[in-house]
Amino acid sequence: MRRKDWLASLGEMSAGMAHEIRNPLGALAGAMQMLRKDATGDETNCRLMDIAIREATRLVNIITEFLQYARPPALNLAEHDLNKVLAETLDLVQHEARTRSNIRIVTSLATGALAALVDQDQFRQVFWNMATNAFEAMPEGGQLTISTSCRHVDAGGRKGDVIEIAFQDTGEGIPKQNLDKIFLPFFTTKKEGSGLGLAAVHRIVDLHGGWIKVESQARHGSRFVVCMPRSGDAGVRLWHEGRTPWKRS
Ligand SMILES: Nc1ncnc2c1ncn2[C@@H]1O[C@H](COP(=O)(O)OP(=O)(O)O)[C@@H](O)[C@H]1O
Ligand SMILES: [Mg+2]
Repeated sequence: MRRKDWLASLGEMSAGMAHEIRNPLGALAGAMQMLRKDATGDETNCRLMDIAIREATRLVNIITEFLQYARPPALNLAEHDLNKVLAETLDLVQHEARTRSNIRIVTSLATGALAALVDQDQFRQVFWNMATNAFEAMPEGGQLTISTSCRHVDAGGRKGDVIEIAFQDTGEGIPKQNLDKIFLPFFTTKKEGSGLGLAAVHRIVDLHGGWIKVESQARHGSRFVVCMPRSGDAGVRLWHEGRTPWKRS
């Protein structure tokens, strides 16, 4: 318990620190961009300035992402059709896919509404993070299949309708020894990665009483499934009253 308290205050402190760093850093990056515009002549100076701007911008982005994870905004819950929330995000995802090489997107959405009690902005973020991870796992191209379905579960203390949103890619896959680390903040295998995407996804889904399943094989692709209790279920009502009947798998 004491260790948990300690970790919580450490988290609060680093979030505070990140917040204090972000504003002056943003100002710094902005000022350098202005200077760069007027810079003429010396090619080396221009190149050095570009590096400074690029790295400062990268830092601002990492800090922004970290703050979203460490201090998520309060949940703005309402009943939404997850098919619809997903479809709205798909426009952005398809646009992103066109900027990359040889990416094919296949969708197969369940017929009818998939009603769940969610903060739709946060779920858009979940879907976006899943899709960008899939793209990044397929640098030479491949197929991302996004499907939704609903099924009834009655096992392991869970009973009720569960909505499943699956993201399956044909990318590089995840080696077995990394599978239990991918949701940890700052775990990344990418040169320019922040390691905060899946941590945020996990946190958001968890706060909504849902859970995530991952199946992956190195070099054969990965399948991430976001599972959410369908609203109207006793599970959701219980959770809404402050008790979580859904356990993480
Ligand atoms: N679809 C995927 N295919 C293969 N590896 C993945 C996939 N999604 C996540 N990963 C692994 O999990 C790590 C953490 O992902 P994430 O938290 O989104 O951080 P980032 O994308 O910044 O690296 C990635 O660096 C990668 O190793
Ligand atoms: Mg990511």
